[in-house]
Amino acid sequence: MNKNRAHPNLWYPFSITEGQAPPPKVVRGRGTTLELEDGRIILDCISSWWVNLHGHGNLRIADAIHEQAERLEHVLFAGFTHEPAERLARALTDQLPGPLSRVFYSDDGSTSVEVALKMALQFWRNQGERRTSFIAFDGAYHGDTFGAMSAGARSLFTDAFGELLFDVDHVPYPATWMGDASVEQREDETISRIEALLTEAPGRHAAIIVEPLVQGAGGMRVCREAFLQKLAAVQSRFGTLLIFDEVMTGFGRTGDWFACRRAGVEPDLICLAKGITGGFVPLAATVATSRIYEAFTGAGPERTFWHGHSYTANPIGCAAALASLELMAENEPVFSGMEEHHRGFLARLDPEDTTRHRVMGTIAAFDVRTEEEGGYLNRVGDQIKRLTLDRGLLLRPLGNTLYVMPPYSLTEEERESMYVGIEALVQEVT
Ligand SMILES: Cc1ncc(COP(=O)(O)O)c(C=O)c1O
Repeated sequence: MNKNRAHPNLWYPFSITEGQAPPPKVVRGRGTTLELEDGRIILDCISSWWVNLHGHGNLRIADAIHEQAERLEHVLFAGFTHEPAERLARALTDQLPGPLSRVFYSDDGSTSVEVALKMALQFWRNQGERRTSFIAFDGAYHGDTFGAMSAGARSLFTDAFGELLFDVDHVPYPATWMGDASVEQREDETISRIEALLTEAPGRHAAIIVEPLVQGAGGMRVCREAFLQKLAAVQSRFGTLLIFDEVMTGFGRTGDWFACRRAGVEPDLICLAKGITGGFVPLAATVATSRIYEAFTGAGPERTFWHGHSYTANPIGCAAALASLELMAENEPVFSGMEEHHRGFLARLDPEDTTRHRVMGTIAAFDVRTEEEGGYLNRVGDQIKRLTLDRGLLLRPLGNTLYVMPPYSLTEEERESMYVGIEALVQEVT
Protein backbone atom coordinates (compact mmCIF):
# COMPACT_ATOMS: atom_id res chain seq x y z
CA MET A 1 0.00 0.00 0.00
CA ASN A 2 1.16 3.51 -0.73
CA LYS A 3 2.46 4.82 2.58
CA ASN A 4 1.62 8.40 1.64
CA ARG A 5 -2.12 7.80 1.47
CA ALA A 6 -4.64 7.35 4.26
CA HIS A 7 -5.90 3.77 4.61
CA PRO A 8 -8.58 2.85 2.03
CA ASN A 9 -10.84 1.09 4.56
CA LEU A 10 -10.75 3.58 7.40
CA TRP A 11 -12.96 6.54 8.23
CA TYR A 12 -11.18 8.69 10.82
CA PRO A 13 -13.00 10.74 13.48
CA PHE A 14 -13.14 14.54 13.28
CA SER A 15 -11.11 14.42 10.06
CA ILE A 16 -11.61 16.33 6.85
CA THR A 17 -10.91 13.76 4.13
CA GLU A 18 -9.34 15.94 1.43
CA GLY A 19 -6.27 18.14 1.41
CA GLN A 20 -4.82 16.75 4.61
CA ALA A 21 -1.57 14.88 5.17
CA PRO A 22 -2.20 11.19 5.93
CA PRO A 23 -2.09 10.42 9.67
CA PRO A 24 1.29 9.18 10.89
CA LYS A 25 1.31 5.57 12.04
CA VAL A 26 2.13 4.96 15.69
CA VAL A 27 3.89 1.67 16.39
CA ARG A 28 4.62 1.78 20.13
CA GLY A 29 3.90 3.75 23.28
CA ARG A 30 6.18 3.83 26.32
CA GLY A 31 5.77 6.17 29.26
CA THR A 32 5.16 9.69 28.02
CA THR A 33 6.39 8.95 24.49
CA LEU A 34 5.04 7.44 21.27
CA GLU A 35 7.15 5.93 18.52
CA LEU A 36 6.15 6.55 14.91
CA GLU A 37 6.68 4.09 12.06
CA ASP A 38 9.43 6.31 10.62
CA GLY A 39 11.36 6.04 13.90
CA ARG A 40 10.48 9.47 15.31
CA ILE A 41 9.80 9.60 19.03
CA ILE A 42 7.21 12.15 20.15
CA LEU A 43 6.27 13.43 23.58
CA ASP A 44 2.56 13.04 24.29
CA CYS A 45 1.73 16.46 25.79
CA ILE A 46 -2.04 15.86 25.78
CA SER A 47 -2.30 12.30 27.09
CA SER A 48 -3.77 11.15 23.76
CA TRP A 49 -7.13 12.92 23.90
CA TRP A 50 -6.83 13.26 27.69
CA VAL A 51 -7.02 9.58 28.57
CA ASN A 52 -3.51 8.30 29.36
CA LEU A 53 -3.09 9.34 32.97
CA HIS A 54 0.03 7.29 33.63
CA GLY A 55 1.58 7.40 30.19
CA HIS A 56 1.59 4.61 27.63
CA GLY A 57 2.19 0.93 28.24
CA ASN A 58 2.04 1.09 32.03
CA LEU A 59 2.90 -2.43 33.16
CA ARG A 60 0.81 -2.37 36.34
CA ILE A 61 -2.35 -1.73 34.32
CA ALA A 62 -1.27 -4.17 31.58
CA ASP A 63 -0.77 -6.91 34.19
CA ALA A 64 -4.14 -6.20 35.83
CA ILE A 65 -5.82 -6.51 32.41
CA HIS A 66 -3.97 -9.74 31.63
CA GLU A 67 -4.91 -11.32 34.93
CA GLN A 68 -8.56 -10.29 34.61
CA ALA A 69 -8.76 -11.45 30.97
CA GLU A 70 -7.66 -14.92 32.03
CA ARG A 71 -10.14 -15.08 34.91
CA LEU A 72 -13.31 -13.50 33.45
CA GLU A 73 -13.21 -11.31 30.36
CA HIS A 74 -16.92 -10.42 30.29
CA VAL A 75 -20.34 -11.30 31.54
CA LEU A 76 -23.65 -9.52 31.02
CA PHE A 77 -24.30 -7.13 33.88
CA ALA A 78 -28.10 -7.38 33.98
CA GLY A 79 -28.90 -10.12 36.44
CA PHE A 80 -25.21 -10.83 37.21
CA THR A 81 -22.50 -9.06 39.13
CA HIS A 82 -18.75 -9.49 39.62
CA GLU A 83 -15.99 -8.45 41.93
CA PRO A 84 -14.11 -5.92 39.74
CA ALA A 85 -17.35 -3.92 39.24
CA GLU A 86 -18.13 -4.00 42.95
CA ARG A 87 -14.60 -3.08 44.03
CA LEU A 88 -14.43 -0.24 41.51
CA ALA A 89 -17.80 1.16 42.58
CA ARG A 90 -16.51 1.26 46.16
CA ALA A 91 -13.18 2.80 45.16
CA LEU A 92 -14.84 5.52 43.07
CA THR A 93 -17.43 6.47 45.66
CA ASP A 94 -14.69 6.57 48.33
CA GLN A 95 -13.07 9.40 46.36
CA LEU A 96 -16.27 11.31 45.57
CA PRO A 97 -18.29 13.56 47.89
CA GLY A 98 -20.39 11.52 50.34
CA PRO A 99 -23.85 11.66 48.75
CA LEU A 100 -22.56 10.31 45.39
CA SER A 101 -22.99 6.65 46.14
CA ARG A 102 -24.48 4.76 43.15
CA VAL A 103 -22.33 3.87 40.16
CA PHE A 104 -23.94 3.14 36.79
CA TYR A 105 -21.41 1.88 34.23
CA SER A 106 -21.38 2.58 30.49
CA ASP A 107 -18.80 2.81 27.71
CA ASP A 108 -17.50 6.32 26.99
CA GLY A 109 -17.93 9.96 27.85
CA SER A 110 -20.93 10.47 25.59
CA THR A 111 -22.82 7.53 27.07
CA SER A 112 -22.03 8.64 30.61
CA VAL A 113 -23.66 11.96 29.72
CA GLU A 114 -26.67 10.32 28.03
CA VAL A 115 -27.18 8.27 31.18
CA ALA A 116 -27.03 11.36 33.40
CA LEU A 117 -29.52 13.27 31.22
CA LYS A 118 -31.92 10.33 31.13
CA MET A 119 -31.61 9.78 34.88
CA ALA A 120 -32.36 13.45 35.52
CA LEU A 121 -35.46 13.40 33.29
CA GLN A 122 -36.79 10.18 34.77
CA PHE A 123 -35.99 11.28 38.33
CA TRP A 124 -38.67 13.97 37.96
CA ARG A 125 -41.05 11.77 36.00
CA ASN A 126 -40.93 9.11 38.73
CA GLN A 127 -42.21 11.79 41.07
CA GLY A 128 -45.02 12.82 38.78
CA GLU A 129 -43.28 15.88 37.32
CA ARG A 130 -42.68 16.37 33.61
CA ARG A 131 -39.51 18.35 33.11
CA THR A 132 -38.42 18.57 29.50
CA SER A 133 -35.38 20.82 29.26
CA PHE A 134 -31.92 21.49 30.69
CA ILE A 135 -29.73 24.48 31.35
CA ALA A 136 -26.30 24.14 29.74
CA PHE A 137 -23.44 26.43 28.75
CA ASP A 138 -22.30 28.20 25.61
CA GLY A 139 -19.11 26.54 24.39
CA ALA A 140 -19.96 23.22 26.08
CA TYR A 141 -18.97 19.87 24.64
CA HIS A 142 -20.56 16.79 26.18
CA GLY A 143 -20.08 14.24 23.38
CA ASP A 144 -21.47 13.15 20.04
CA THR A 145 -24.63 11.19 20.82
CA PHE A 146 -27.94 13.03 20.46
CA GLY A 147 -28.53 13.93 24.09
CA ALA A 148 -24.92 14.94 24.57
CA MET A 149 -25.05 17.03 21.37
CA SER A 150 -28.26 18.68 22.54
CA ALA A 151 -26.63 19.71 25.81
CA GLY A 152 -23.52 20.89 23.98
CA ALA A 153 -23.06 24.18 22.19
CA ARG A 154 -24.50 24.40 18.71
CA SER A 155 -21.55 24.42 16.32
CA LEU A 156 -20.12 23.05 13.12
CA PHE A 157 -20.12 19.67 14.89
CA THR A 158 -23.90 19.70 15.39
CA ASP A 159 -25.08 21.70 12.34
CA ALA A 160 -26.12 18.65 10.31
CA PHE A 161 -28.34 17.38 13.12
CA GLY A 162 -29.73 20.63 14.51
CA GLU A 163 -33.41 19.94 13.84
CA LEU A 164 -33.36 16.76 15.87
CA LEU A 165 -31.61 18.14 18.94
CA PHE A 166 -33.86 18.74 21.93
CA ASP A 167 -34.48 22.05 23.54
CA VAL A 168 -31.82 23.29 25.96
CA ASP A 169 -31.29 26.79 27.37
CA HIS A 170 -27.66 27.79 26.95
CA VAL A 171 -26.12 30.48 29.15
CA PRO A 172 -22.65 32.10 28.96
CA TYR A 173 -19.75 30.20 30.62
CA PRO A 174 -17.83 32.77 32.67
CA ALA A 175 -14.42 31.77 31.36
CA THR A 176 -11.49 33.51 33.00
CA TRP A 177 -7.72 33.86 32.67
CA MET A 178 -4.80 35.36 34.54
CA GLY A 179 -5.23 39.07 35.08
CA ASP A 180 -8.94 39.04 34.18
CA ALA A 181 -10.59 41.82 36.17
CA SER A 182 -14.20 41.36 35.11
CA VAL A 183 -14.84 37.73 35.90
CA GLU A 184 -17.06 38.32 38.93
CA GLN A 185 -19.35 40.52 36.89
CA ARG A 186 -19.63 37.87 34.16
CA GLU A 187 -20.30 35.17 36.76
CA ASP A 188 -23.05 37.24 38.31
CA GLU A 189 -24.60 37.91 34.90
CA THR A 190 -24.72 34.18 34.20
CA ILE A 191 -26.17 33.43 37.62
CA SER A 192 -28.85 36.10 37.09
CA ARG A 193 -29.66 34.63 33.69
CA ILE A 194 -30.08 31.18 35.27
CA GLU A 195 -32.23 32.61 38.06
CA ALA A 196 -34.41 34.26 35.43
CA LEU A 197 -34.81 31.01 33.46
CA LEU A 198 -35.70 29.07 36.60
CA THR A 199 -38.13 31.75 37.72
CA GLU A 200 -39.85 32.21 34.33
CA ALA A 201 -40.47 28.50 33.88
CA PRO A 202 -40.52 26.68 37.20
CA GLY A 203 -40.61 22.92 36.68
CA ARG A 204 -39.21 23.10 33.13
CA HIS A 205 -35.52 22.24 33.72
CA ALA A 206 -34.56 18.75 34.83
CA ALA A 207 -30.98 19.80 35.56
CA ILE A 208 -28.12 22.19 34.97
CA ILE A 209 -25.23 20.44 33.23
CA VAL A 210 -21.72 21.88 33.35
CA GLU A 211 -18.09 20.98 32.65
CA PRO A 212 -16.78 22.05 36.06
CA LEU A 213 -13.67 24.26 36.22
CA VAL A 214 -12.61 23.62 32.61
CA GLN A 215 -14.57 23.42 29.37
CA GLY A 216 -12.36 21.05 27.39
CA ALA A 217 -13.12 20.82 23.68
CA GLY A 218 -14.66 24.31 23.75
CA GLY A 219 -11.15 25.74 24.10
CA MET A 220 -9.79 24.83 27.58
CA ARG A 221 -11.88 27.61 29.08
CA VAL A 222 -11.38 27.84 32.82
CA CYS A 223 -13.94 29.04 35.37
CA ARG A 224 -13.45 29.73 39.07
CA GLU A 225 -14.38 27.46 41.96
CA ALA A 226 -16.42 30.41 43.26
CA PHE A 227 -18.64 30.28 40.18
CA LEU A 228 -19.46 26.61 40.75
CA GLN A 229 -20.31 27.42 44.36
CA LYS A 230 -22.70 30.16 43.22
CA LEU A 231 -24.18 27.75 40.66
CA ALA A 232 -24.73 25.08 43.32
CA ALA A 233 -26.41 27.64 45.57
CA VAL A 234 -28.85 28.74 42.88
CA GLN A 235 -29.54 25.15 41.81
CA SER A 236 -30.35 24.11 45.33
CA ARG A 237 -32.48 27.23 45.97
CA PHE A 238 -34.64 26.50 42.91
CA GLY A 239 -34.65 22.74 43.45
CA THR A 240 -33.38 21.54 40.08
CA LEU A 241 -30.57 18.98 39.71
CA LEU A 242 -26.88 19.63 39.06
CA ILE A 243 -24.87 17.40 36.69
CA PHE A 244 -21.08 17.68 36.63
CA ASP A 245 -19.64 16.35 33.40
CA GLU A 246 -16.21 15.36 34.70
CA VAL A 247 -15.39 13.21 31.68
CA MET A 248 -12.30 15.34 31.13
CA THR A 249 -11.76 17.01 34.52
CA GLY A 250 -11.95 13.80 36.55
CA PHE A 251 -9.05 11.72 37.84
CA GLY A 252 -6.62 14.42 38.88
CA ARG A 253 -6.79 16.71 35.87
CA THR A 254 -7.70 19.80 37.88
CA GLY A 255 -5.05 19.07 40.52
CA ASP A 256 -7.50 17.35 42.87
CA TRP A 257 -9.07 13.93 42.34
CA PHE A 258 -12.20 15.52 40.90
CA ALA A 259 -13.21 19.10 40.06
CA CYS A 260 -16.16 18.80 42.46
CA ARG A 261 -13.68 18.17 45.28
CA ARG A 262 -11.52 21.12 44.30
CA ALA A 263 -14.58 23.37 44.16
CA GLY A 264 -16.16 21.95 47.32
CA VAL A 265 -19.44 21.33 45.47
CA GLU A 266 -21.61 18.21 45.66
CA PRO A 267 -23.47 17.60 42.38
CA ASP A 268 -26.42 15.19 42.07
CA LEU A 269 -24.88 13.32 39.16
CA ILE A 270 -21.31 13.08 37.91
CA CYS A 271 -20.12 11.71 34.55
CA LEU A 272 -16.75 9.95 34.39
CA ALA A 273 -14.85 8.39 31.48
CA LYS A 274 -11.61 9.23 29.62
CA GLY A 275 -8.91 8.74 32.32
CA ILE A 276 -10.90 6.14 34.22
CA THR A 277 -8.86 3.15 32.93
CA GLY A 278 -5.66 5.15 32.49
CA GLY A 279 -6.31 5.13 28.73
CA PHE A 280 -6.20 1.34 28.24
CA VAL A 281 -9.79 0.33 27.45
CA PRO A 282 -13.11 2.16 27.12
CA LEU A 283 -15.21 2.43 30.26
CA ALA A 284 -17.43 5.10 31.77
CA ALA A 285 -19.51 5.67 34.86
CA THR A 286 -22.33 7.96 35.90
CA VAL A 287 -22.44 8.30 39.66
CA ALA A 288 -25.70 9.35 41.33
CA THR A 289 -26.56 10.43 44.84
CA SER A 290 -28.65 8.13 46.99
CA ARG A 291 -31.52 10.65 46.62
CA ILE A 292 -31.54 10.12 42.84
CA TYR A 293 -31.25 6.36 43.23
CA GLU A 294 -34.14 6.23 45.71
CA ALA A 295 -36.45 7.71 43.07
CA PHE A 296 -35.87 4.62 40.92
CA THR A 297 -36.30 1.99 43.61
CA GLY A 298 -39.33 -0.24 44.06
CA ALA A 299 -40.77 -3.24 42.30
CA GLY A 300 -42.78 -1.28 39.70
CA PRO A 301 -41.36 -1.53 36.17
CA GLU A 302 -42.32 2.08 35.43
CA ARG A 303 -39.85 3.33 38.09
CA THR A 304 -36.98 1.30 36.65
CA PHE A 305 -34.11 2.85 34.72
CA TRP A 306 -34.34 0.92 31.44
CA HIS A 307 -30.86 1.53 30.11
CA GLY A 308 -27.76 -0.61 29.56
CA HIS A 309 -25.04 -1.53 27.08
CA SER A 310 -23.57 -4.86 26.01
CA TYR A 311 -20.23 -4.05 27.63
CA THR A 312 -21.64 -2.43 30.77
CA ALA A 313 -19.17 -2.93 33.66
CA ASN A 314 -16.77 -4.94 31.51
CA PRO A 315 -14.52 -6.74 34.04
CA ILE A 316 -11.32 -5.99 32.11
CA GLY A 317 -12.20 -2.29 32.10
CA CYS A 318 -12.96 -2.39 35.83
CA ALA A 319 -9.67 -4.17 36.58
CA ALA A 320 -7.77 -1.56 34.55
CA ALA A 321 -9.58 1.22 36.42
CA LEU A 322 -8.74 -0.28 39.80
CA ALA A 323 -5.05 -0.46 38.86
CA SER A 324 -5.20 3.11 37.56
CA LEU A 325 -6.76 4.37 40.81
CA GLU A 326 -3.94 2.73 42.79
CA LEU A 327 -1.40 4.51 40.61
CA MET A 328 -3.27 7.77 41.10
CA ALA A 329 -3.07 7.42 44.87
CA GLU A 330 0.69 6.93 44.57
CA ASN A 331 1.04 9.86 42.16
CA GLU A 332 -1.10 12.39 43.99
CA PRO A 333 1.84 14.77 44.56
CA VAL A 334 2.51 14.72 40.80
CA PHE A 335 -0.94 15.77 39.67
CA SER A 336 -1.43 18.19 42.53
CA GLY A 337 2.02 19.74 42.00
CA MET A 338 1.88 20.25 38.23
CA GLU A 339 0.00 23.55 38.44
CA GLU A 340 3.00 25.32 39.94
CA HIS A 341 5.28 24.25 37.08
CA HIS A 342 2.67 25.29 34.51
CA ARG A 343 2.40 28.72 36.13
CA GLY A 344 6.16 29.18 35.83
CA PHE A 345 5.99 28.18 32.16
CA LEU A 346 3.15 30.55 31.27
CA ALA A 347 5.10 33.40 32.87
CA ARG A 348 7.88 32.73 30.36
CA LEU A 349 5.63 33.32 27.34
CA ASP A 350 5.79 36.64 25.56
CA PRO A 351 2.49 38.52 26.05
CA GLU A 352 3.04 40.10 22.62
CA ASP A 353 2.53 36.66 21.06
CA THR A 354 0.11 35.03 23.48
CA THR A 355 -2.88 36.03 25.54
CA ARG A 356 -5.44 34.70 28.07
CA HIS A 357 -3.01 32.52 30.01
CA ARG A 358 -4.85 30.03 32.19
CA VAL A 359 -3.96 27.09 34.33
CA MET A 360 -6.00 24.52 36.25
CA GLY A 361 -4.09 21.65 37.86
CA THR A 362 -2.42 19.61 35.13
CA ILE A 363 -3.86 21.76 32.33
CA ALA A 364 -2.15 24.88 31.01
CA ALA A 365 -3.57 26.84 28.08
CA PHE A 366 -3.18 30.12 26.23
CA ASP A 367 -4.32 31.70 23.00
CA VAL A 368 -1.88 32.52 20.25
CA ARG A 369 -2.44 36.07 19.03
CA THR A 370 -3.51 36.10 15.40
CA GLU A 371 -4.98 38.58 12.95
CA GLU A 372 -7.83 36.16 12.31
CA GLU A 373 -10.67 35.76 14.78
CA GLY A 374 -10.14 32.98 17.35
CA GLY A 375 -12.06 29.71 17.17
CA TYR A 376 -11.78 26.05 16.24
CA LEU A 377 -11.06 26.68 12.56
CA ASN A 378 -8.45 29.38 13.13
CA ARG A 379 -5.61 28.51 10.76
CA VAL A 380 -2.83 28.97 13.27
CA GLY A 381 -4.00 25.66 14.81
CA ASP A 382 -3.31 23.82 11.56
CA GLN A 383 0.01 25.54 11.21
CA ILE A 384 1.01 24.43 14.72
CA LYS A 385 -0.26 20.89 14.10
CA ARG A 386 1.95 20.62 11.03
CA LEU A 387 5.03 21.75 12.95
CA THR A 388 4.59 19.78 16.17
CA LEU A 389 5.67 16.32 15.07
CA ASP A 390 8.94 17.65 13.67
CA ARG A 391 9.53 19.26 17.07
CA GLY A 392 8.94 15.86 18.72
CA LEU A 393 5.69 16.94 20.40
CA LEU A 394 2.13 15.64 20.24
CA LEU A 395 -0.08 18.72 20.56
CA ARG A 396 -3.56 19.23 19.16
CA PRO A 397 -4.46 22.91 19.33
CA LEU A 398 -8.11 23.91 19.53
CA GLY A 399 -8.01 26.63 16.90
CA ASN A 400 -5.61 29.27 18.21
CA THR A 401 -5.75 27.80 21.74
CA LEU A 402 -2.67 25.82 22.59
CA TYR A 403 -2.76 23.66 25.69
CA VAL A 404 -0.97 20.86 27.47
CA MET A 405 -2.44 18.11 29.64
CA PRO A 406 0.44 15.66 30.04
CA PRO A 407 0.41 12.21 31.64
CA TYR A 408 1.49 12.03 35.27
CA SER A 409 4.51 9.97 34.20
CA LEU A 410 6.09 13.12 32.72
CA THR A 411 9.70 13.41 33.96
CA GLU A 412 11.33 16.72 34.89
CA GLU A 413 13.43 16.58 31.75
CA GLU A 414 10.43 15.82 29.53
CA ARG A 415 8.51 18.67 31.14
CA GLU A 416 11.23 21.16 30.31
CA SER A 417 11.57 19.94 26.74
CA MET A 418 7.79 20.26 26.33
CA TYR A 419 7.88 23.87 27.56
CA VAL A 420 10.92 24.79 25.44
CA GLY A 421 9.37 23.14 22.36
CA ILE A 422 6.15 25.11 22.77
CA GLU A 423 8.00 28.39 23.25
CA ALA A 424 9.85 27.74 19.98
CA LEU A 425 6.61 26.83 18.19
CA VAL A 426 4.90 30.01 19.33
CA GLN A 427 7.81 32.11 18.12
CA GLU A 428 7.67 30.40 14.77
CA VAL A 429 3.96 31.02 14.12
CA THR A 430 3.73 34.59 15.47
C1 LIG B 1 -16.46 17.05 29.04
C2 LIG B 1 -16.66 15.95 28.03
N1 LIG B 1 -17.78 15.25 28.07
C3 LIG B 1 -18.02 14.23 27.21
C4 LIG B 1 -17.09 13.92 26.24
C5 LIG B 1 -17.37 12.79 25.29
O1 LIG B 1 -16.53 11.71 25.61
P1 LIG B 1 -16.26 10.54 24.56
O2 LIG B 1 -15.43 11.13 23.47
O3 LIG B 1 -15.52 9.52 25.36
O4 LIG B 1 -17.59 10.05 24.10
C6 LIG B 1 -15.90 14.64 26.16
C7 LIG B 1 -14.91 14.34 25.12
O5 LIG B 1 -14.03 15.10 24.83
C8 LIG B 1 -15.68 15.69 27.08
O6 LIG B 1 -14.56 16.42 27.07
